Parts: sequence; C-alpha cells; structure tokens
Amino acid sequence: MKNSVSASVLSADMLRLGEEIEKLERNGIEMLHFDVMDGMFVNNITFGFPVLEKMRRKTGLVMDVHLMIADPLKYVRRFAENADIISFHIESDSDTMQTINAVRECGVKVALAIKPDTPAEAVYKYLPYLDMVLVMTVEPGFGGQSFMDMSEKIRLIRDRITESGLDIDIQVDGGINAETAETVKKAGANVFVSGSYLFRADDMKKTADILRAEIC
Ligand code: DX5
Ligand code: ZN
Repeated sequence: MKNSVSASVLSADMLRLGEEIEKLERNGIEMLHFDVMDGMFVNNITFGFPVLEKMRRKTGLVMDVHLMIADPLKYVRRFAENADIISFHIESDSDTMQTINAVRECGVKVALAIKPDTPAEAVYKYLPYLDMVLVMTVEPGFGGQSFMDMSEKIRLIRDRITESGLDIDIQVDGGINAETAETVKKAGANVFVSGSYLFRADDMKKTADILRAEIC
C-alpha cells in the first residue's frame, strides 16, 4: 500500500491558483484534494464545476474530489468528468450503493467518507465496492481545525480490509501535520490530506516527504 499526499486546495492562495498548482507539481505532491461544500451538508460553501474544470485542464495531478454536499447522487456524474477519484459522505441524503455505482459507471474511482461520529462498522458492507475510505479527523466544513484522533476507527477498518483480502486506501483529512500523520499512519492510514500545514510549510517537498514517510 503506497503512502501519498493529497494537497487541499482550500488552503491555497486563490488568486494564484495556477502558480500554487505548479508548486505542488514541482514538489512531487501526488494528489490535489478539491473540497466541495454546498452550505447544506456543512455550514460553508466553497467552489464547484468551473474551478475544477479549469484545474483539470492545467494539471495531470490526480484529482481527488471530496464532496461535502447533501445530495451527491445528483451531481457525481458531472464531477466525474473532471475527477480521478470522488469521495462522498455516507451521512449524506443519497443512497450509498446507488451513488457508488453511479461513480463507478463513469469510470472514476470511488471513496466513502465518514464523519468523526460515524463508527467504523458503517462502511464494512461497502468495502468490496470501494477504492478508498476517507476517515475525517475533523468535523467537515473548514480548513485549519484541530485533529481529532480516529486511530481506533482506522485500525478497525484497516483490519477489516486486510481480513477481506482487499486492496483499499485509507485517507485521513483534517488537522494533519508531521505529528498527527505519524499517529494515523500507525493505525493504518496511507493517504494524507494536508491543507494549512502543507501550504504554510517553508519547504513543501520536505514536509510532504515527512507526511508520507514509512514508519520504522
Ligand atoms: C475540511 C476539509 C479538509 C480541509 C483540510 O472539511 O475536508 O480537506 O481543507 O485542511 P487542514 O489540513 O488545514 O485541516
Ligand atoms: Zn476534504
């Protein structure tokens, strides 16, 4: 299972998005994490189709789209036009299996996201149909929040994946820095979303190397 870093665009300088993307490419970041919020599923509104489409045209980075929206089923096909992987929330109003299938039919990878209060067990029956599970380590809605330790949940999901003989990534999102990455890595996470920590770093490459470093 490969460790990788997904940079959360929410923390980028919006007036210099093009340059920010070039910086991510130069520093060997694997994925671009695109947080879509609709003001209903969460108390915040971010960006949507026009920005994603422009970014997709500019870069070959893996487009990792995180939908924090009330009815993902209604929109996944359109997001899929410019995404490599789409995460949607199990707590949303859409039918989970139908939404997974809709994403798959577009030939895009699919991930199920769970909020801090949702237990590990909620995702078990969907594991055979997923490419990734996104375990939120903050309440979704805003960048720059403090990390909530979800190690136990991550461990349970990782064990279940291994027992089932599946090959699925576990992504963590919210409050990830060198120290918290180490904690979730030990529990079995391997894809690290980083917004404020990565974009604020003096040396982005070194910071990403630390986040994805194998634990000894
Ligand atoms: C929060 C978003 C995150 C956020 C992460 O709802 O899903 O992706 O941008 O930002 P940091 O790394 O600053 O916590
Ligand atoms: Zn996110």
